[in-house]
Amino acid sequence: MSLSTLFNHEEFIARHIGPNAADQAAMLAQIGADSIEYLVAQTIPDDIRFKQKLPLPDAVSEVDALAKIRAIAAKNIVNKSFIGLGYYPNITPNVILRNVLENPGWYTAYTPYQAEIAQGRLEALLNYQQMIIDMTGLDLANASLLDEATAAAEAMAMARRISKVKAEKFFVDEQVLPQTLDVVKTRAQYFGFELVIGAVTAAGDDDYFGALLQYPGADGAVRDLTAPIAALKARGGVAIVAADLLALALLKSPAEMGADVAIGSSQRFGIPMGFGGPHAAYFAFKDEMKRSAPGRIIGVSIDAKGKTALRMALQTREQHIRREKANSNICTSQVLLANMAGMYAVYHGPAGIKRIAERTHRLASLFAQGVRAQGGKILHDAFFDTVQVNTGAQTASIYAAALAAGYNLLQVSASVLSVAFHEAASQNDLATLIQLFTGQSADLAALDVASSEVIPAALQRTSAYLTHPVFNRYHTEHEMLRYLKRLENRDLAMNHSMISLGSCTMKLNATSEMIPVTWAEFGNIHPFAPQAQTVGYFEMINGLADQLKAITGFDAICMQPNSGAQGEYAGLLAIRRYHDSRNEAHRDICLIPKSAHGTNPATAQMMGLKVVVVDCDDSGNVDLADLKAKAELHGANLAALMLTYPSTHGVFETAVKAICATVHQFGGQVYMDGANLNAQVGLTRPADIGADVSHMNLHKTFCIPHGGGGPGMGPIGMKAHLAPFMSNHAVANIDQGDASVAQGQSAVSAAPFGSASILPISWMYITMMGAGGVKHATEIALLNANYMMQQLSAHYPVLYTGANGRVAHECIIDIRPLKAASGITEVDIAKRLMDYGFHAPTMSFPVAGTLMIEPTESESKAELDRFIAAMISIRQEIDQVQAGVWPAENNPLKNAPHSKNDIAADWDRPYSREVAFFPLPYVLDNKFWPSVNRIDDVYGDRNLICACPSMDQYE
Ligand SMILES: Cc1ncc(COP(=O)(O)O)c(C=O)c1O
Repeated sequence: MSLSTLFNHEEFIARHIGPNAADQAAMLAQIGADSIEYLVAQTIPDDIRFKQKLPLPDAVSEVDALAKIRAIAAKNIVNKSFIGLGYYPNITPNVILRNVLENPGWYTAYTPYQAEIAQGRLEALLNYQQMIIDMTGLDLANASLLDEATAAAEAMAMARRISKVKAEKFFVDEQVLPQTLDVVKTRAQYFGFELVIGAVTAAGDDDYFGALLQYPGADGAVRDLTAPIAALKARGGVAIVAADLLALALLKSPAEMGADVAIGSSQRFGIPMGFGGPHAAYFAFKDEMKRSAPGRIIGVSIDAKGKTALRMALQTREQHIRREKANSNICTSQVLLANMAGMYAVYHGPAGIKRIAERTHRLASLFAQGVRAQGGKILHDAFFDTVQVNTGAQTASIYAAALAAGYNLLQVSASVLSVAFHEAASQNDLATLIQLFTGQSADLAALDVASSEVIPAALQRTSAYLTHPVFNRYHTEHEMLRYLKRLENRDLAMNHSMISLGSCTMKLNATSEMIPVTWAEFGNIHPFAPQAQTVGYFEMINGLADQLKAITGFDAICMQPNSGAQGEYAGLLAIRRYHDSRNEAHRDICLIPKSAHGTNPATAQMMGLKVVVVDCDDSGNVDLADLKAKAELHGANLAALMLTYPSTHGVFETAVKAICATVHQFGGQVYMDGANLNAQVGLTRPADIGADVSHMNLHKTFCIPHGGGGPGMGPIGMKAHLAPFMSNHAVANIDQGDASVAQGQSAVSAAPFGSASILPISWMYITMMGAGGVKHATEIALLNANYMMQQLSAHYPVLYTGANGRVAHECIIDIRPLKAASGITEVDIAKRLMDYGFHAPTMSFPVAGTLMIEPTESESKAELDRFIAAMISIRQEIDQVQAGVWPAENNPLKNAPHSKNDIAADWDRPYSREVAFFPLPYVLDNKFWPSVNRIDDVYGDRNLICACPSMDQYE
């Protein structure tokens, strides 16, 4: 072996891909394929094959890739940020950093659809909701949205649903954060709302269906919103307050001022700024609005034994059920970050949070006092943490001197600077800043005696918060550590076993990919920091954009959307803007195949498009004749087709080029839902197939972990003609050296590059895999899926296969015939899999009564075989039920999952404890214990409780 070979630059490829060469050979033999190439040729239509080598560098070892990204990160300058505008330095408690953010037990879980094996993060999310309810004073809160700006836009849409005011006018406080205004403008345009922007006092001046008020304002001033809210509501408008969560520890709550809805960011509760994200946005509202609210709400229910158990309530699958009538297109949200923020409140408790808020406020007050003492002009009397100073002719020099001293301030205008204090600010910082502004050193001790807080009495908070025991028990590190571990133990994540959720691509989230995420050079950067400080970020983001261009064939990438559904929105927005630019704004028809994910129609509706459903044929393919007929019928008004490829039915449709050509023939654009890109990389490319724009779920194909339900990233790739219509940003320049970025296109997300701090994960993955590795990953994803399909097909009917009897990267098994024969449903199988230590595949999407299995390339043959053994064993159990050996309603399937609470209970079942708990030998070796029995969803929805029950109910 040569020295170069001994260094094994390709080592990571074999770490990422599950089956080794011998296993691959065995699996190929098993499915009757001579080679991987043969399997690929049988699976992917030849006319869309990409047969060259991807224009990407070769693989790089983990050590070398980390060194490369370290060098890139080092180009970022970590200044002390006093910019504010919704993003604040803070201190992530290390116990949370290591045991949640850096812990695969938390970050590799999926959205808690299978609630019995997700009680840990469901409890954490319930804590988060309770915290938001407490701080805002409102009745209910959801379990997070994507960012403050999109939460504001969601609130506006909800206000429209609720308000009886006829006028399509929405009021926006002129002190709303600029990035929020930008996103609200985008959304309003395609909903057809007129925005009226003015001083808060004008909120009741006209018939508005709603108003968005900022508290404190972007200028830092704390205003009493009580009167404007009352005036607005008197005319039927819905009052939405965007509030700073930390400020609410000292300020009268939005509810106490009459607000109907409160939204905002929970970033400053322990989440790094990360150049803009990810952070959890919060959304709190009145009880009567619960059926109109966007996002997921965690609710309390009971299990089969009457024990308290948690699950997602109400809207859980609302896009799939209500499609274009859904409240919102939100699917992936920010669960990991919401959990961290909730845990921050658990760890600090009410007194700790209040102390942090008081310290922040005191620093701001002392700063104002110190500047004023030297004749400085402070612009507002009442503020929480942000002080605006009229610095006149000194503005530029103070700003520059601060920068030179390592401080980032916000320059509001040629004569005004703003300083936003925060948890991480020190006494030294205060002294330095006063010195910078006044040229004098201040006596902090003397100032501290003289100065008092500046929140007017009428706006001081008197109501209690975080009174629930959970916020008052775990304040020592030992207690916190054990609480986190206790919750983690209740959840099945990928560090336990395969999570074969179809359409979700739960592949390996390698440790090397995760490591850079928590580096200060990525974490502690404000999204509006001067560009000279973010050179490393731009290099990494541009590098990732280039990688994604190579993989997809697109000409431009917009890195702003922070979820797949947001990518859909950004993509359709580019399409609408493109049509507008050609004087074809009337094009408002969006064709969507029946099999599409619910976010597709939900997003189309948000873009003001009318959804026309296209049929699928008996093989699950888009019905080309129906597509042609509908494209022709709506030809003059055809805006777009939304197409998932390979389809959500798990097959590469052979007619895909004809499908795209038909849409283009009638002047429409092809939006490709890239959720299934993991089946394409290196073997075919969306742009070559005919897509004009497509999102890439980086939290699927490109290894960003699902975090228990977010964060995600959904950048879009576009052909050159759409590139000028991608989203820009009102505050920060997002030009990545890509001349096509048009100026003045409003944004879709709060931050210029969405959840920028998790982009190193995808960068690391592609860098370590190289051109050959990413392609090989796809090949093995196909092999694993076809092996799974072949092994299960003798026991379960497989619903759809492609032209040559192959599936793409996932396969659907049909449980409906079994249900008809035995009464056993897909739900029973899903719950029984828990007893075998597995998370269920995707249930009833895209076809009700089915299970969709996507093993991904990262699962070894041994893990696949364990899962297959479990499924075969379950099939045998179903046979026993069918044969009458076990009663139809009292058998291991109907009683599943068997929780730890069943072990010591009296046992009067027609099967043994061994069958219940250890149905196969491997289970004994690594038993996962569901912490509750089957959860009663209906009970929970009928008796909706979405706040923490008293703690003794958990015990
Ligand atoms: C086919 C498809 N489209 C869209 C989405 C929405 O993506 P996200 O959850 O990132 O918003 C999903 C999510 O699972 C999906 O499977």
